[in-house]
Amino acid sequence: MHLMCRRWLVSTLRAHGGHFRGFSVSASRNTVMTAWVIDKYGKNEVLRLTKNAPLPIVHYPNEVIVKVHAAGLNPLDISMRGGYGAATMAMKRDPLNMNQSGSEFPLILGRDVSGEIMECGLDVKYFKPGDQVWAAIPPWKQGSLAEFVVLSANEVSHKPNTLSHAEASSVPYVACTAWSVIVNTGGLNKDNSAKKRVLILGGSGGVGTFAIQMVKAWGAHVTVTCSQNAERLVRDLGADDVVDYTAGSVEKQLQTLQKFDLILDNIGGDTEKWALDLLKPWNGAKYVTLVTPFLQNTDRLGLADGMMQTGVTVACKVLKHLRKGVHYRWGFFAPSGPTLDDISEMVDAGKIRPVLEEVFSFAQVPEAFQKMEQGHARGKTVVTITEDLNE
Ligand SMILES: NC(=O)c1ccc[n+]([C@@H]2O[C@H](COP(=O)([O-])OP(=O)(O)OC[C@H]3O[C@@H](n4cnc5c(N)ncnc54)[C@H](OP(=O)(O)O)[C@@H]3O)[C@@H](O)[C@H]2O)c1
Repeated sequence: MHLMCRRWLVSTLRAHGGHFRGFSVSASRNTVMTAWVIDKYGKNEVLRLTKNAPLPIVHYPNEVIVKVHAAGLNPLDISMRGGYGAATMAMKRDPLNMNQSGSEFPLILGRDVSGEIMECGLDVKYFKPGDQVWAAIPPWKQGSLAEFVVLSANEVSHKPNTLSHAEASSVPYVACTAWSVIVNTGGLNKDNSAKKRVLILGGSGGVGTFAIQMVKAWGAHVTVTCSQNAERLVRDLGADDVVDYTAGSVEKQLQTLQKFDLILDNIGGDTEKWALDLLKPWNGAKYVTLVTPFLQNTDRLGLADGMMQTGVTVACKVLKHLRKGVHYRWGFFAPSGPTLDDISEMVDAGKIRPVLEEVFSFAQVPEAFQKMEQGHARGKTVVTITEDLNE
């Protein structure tokens, strides 16, 4: 099927002299594109720039091809470069286990895209070629460190008019994560958040800087933990109370404050040993952590045993905390075009702004990974693509 589609695309492009629905490629490049790929898991040395990555094609009628103008990076890209989540991603890509191991290579990283629709599947009505769009790319799909990416139309959304592509590419992955955690798992929304007390553990990175603005826009009171040198940033984004985790026990500092309705934990580790005591008991209050052992379990134990282990772990924790009148949850990124439509409106209304820490050129992708690996993010790292390739 894959090969047939590719042949069809090649012959159609040739019949159109290399031009197809506004999609123009030179004869020598009509099945390949420029991309950063990895051919095996490892450290930064595995990143390879190629002009011969397979050009993505529409396999299903609800898919679109997006020309990438800018790509956002996330801590997940560093983890995936090293093989994190490989077992679960392999299952999502190939549920019947038909392919040989290593069939995911050459693998393209990059979970955020801002760009332009180049091609639409037959069932796609909401988009047309030329539309300016943004999307968060599910981790089992080829990523955005490339000229083109293929996505399901329901993962894509029209990008905010007020943002450049570089700015827009900093938002989708953290926005879809924050929305999934705060709205779907945490139960807050624009109509019920006024006067709710929200604690964001780790507010200075990608997810935190977005989450602060989102719940603040809905009227919540927001407390944030971060390093002292990030206080200015998180206050500018709307944080009401800021606790410096480097200045003595963060647990003790937080215990002096009123209890919370929702805690979003971007840090994990020991935090869950004490953070649930900060919730209002018997009030529906929830603690949601983004740092879960789900993918490590499936990598280590295989899919079946890993999922079993995960189920047992989370069930024990939920029950333990339920007895104390508080809710313990795991939160996950969830790709969603409709969610990004709502976020686009909030951005254009001036309620949320992108927080760009550093912008790299396409040639500097390894440097961008190195920077991400050092940690201490203050917002987001992005890579510009189209303007660099056109130089
Ligand atoms: N489960 C999912 O689907 C999912 C989805 C998205 C993200 N995540 C995970 O969620 C976490 C946050 O993601 P992100 O994109 O926001 O990461 P990020 O951009 O790397 O930000 C992490 C931030 O936390 C700060 N920090 C580190 N230790 C801290 C502590 N003890 N207390 C308070 N702040 C601390 C860091 O700055 P300093 O070190 O300078 O303080 C940094 O600003 C990551 O572990 C990521 O892998 C999970």
